[in-house]
Amino acid sequence: MKQDTIDILCCPQCRGELSFARTSDSFGHSDRSMVCRNCGKKFTDTEGFPDFLGETGLKYSGKREKIVRTLYAKVYTPVNNFLFLFCGGAGNARREVLSRLDLQDSFSVLETGMGAGENYLWMNSKAKNLRFYGIDIQKQMMVHCMENTQKWGIQAELFRADATNLPFKDEKFDVVFHLGAINLFPDKGRAIEEMIRVSRPGTRIVIADETDKAARLFNVFTGANDKVTPPVDLIPGNMINKSLEIIWRGYGYLIQFTKPYNPPNSK
Ligand SMILES: C[S@@+](CC[C@H](N)C(=O)[O-])C[C@H]1O[C@@H](n2cnc3c(N)ncnc32)[C@H](O)[C@@H]1O
Ligand SMILES: [Zn+2]
Repeated sequence: MKQDTIDILCCPQCRGELSFARTSDSFGHSDRSMVCRNCGKKFTDTEGFPDFLGETGLKYSGKREKIVRTLYAKVYTPVNNFLFLFCGGAGNARREVLSRLDLQDSFSVLETGMGAGENYLWMNSKAKNLRFYGIDIQKQMMVHCMENTQKWGIQAELFRADATNLPFKDEKFDVVFHLGAINLFPDKGRAIEEMIRVSRPGTRIVIADETDKAARLFNVFTGANDKVTPPVDLIPGNMINKSLEIIWRGYGYLIQFTKPYNPPNSK
């Protein structure tokens, strides 16, 4: 993490200011842990990214799930590319979503749930000096994303955090989007509120995920009975230019809206 990135971060629990903890181990190696000046909570950075979740993130039912998730992170890209064949190909599917973003030179871009980071590769060619930020709940995806961005020569600041409790101060990003997990979030409304909170006024926010048509396809394999409703009713009433579209040949939905400069207080 760059030294001055701490200026846009805050404690995801109490929104307090963070400082570097400046701790060192018995060998004198100092680490990059941060501590909340308000509640005292410490956030480590031992694996190459600040971890705002520690043991409170995704819980694995056992060693087996951990192994499966690690393997899944490795095969995520080919599997995803295969699944996207139903939607017209992964490249087209990403373009359909990312082309709605308002990418301008030097903008700071936040993706919540960035997975392997493939959207950064697409966006990187669309404007100059974009400053990429990402959060994901899974350590394995964090590692995979770090490997990818290094391989692609893309600078991205990555944090392990929950999309429903972002570790960023208010109004820090020019572009904020989410692609592909919100259907499974227990509190979608809270994830949307967080995206709005960290967006600068005037930011267009984009959210995309699978429709019920795709969920029905998965349910055949998984035996689940999940029904998908695009969370458009959870967008607060004071957001403007709100729209819902069906994309990916009917397998996806895309919600976009703008955070106004002077939002009225209505919900
Ligand atoms: C289907 S993948 C999509 C990844 C990426 N957005 C893309 O377009 O390729 C969803 C990602 O969201 C992450 N995720 C799931 N729940 C999350 C949460 N509550 N907070 C942050 N990330 C989450 C998963 O770990 C996974 O990497
Ligand atoms: Zn705190």
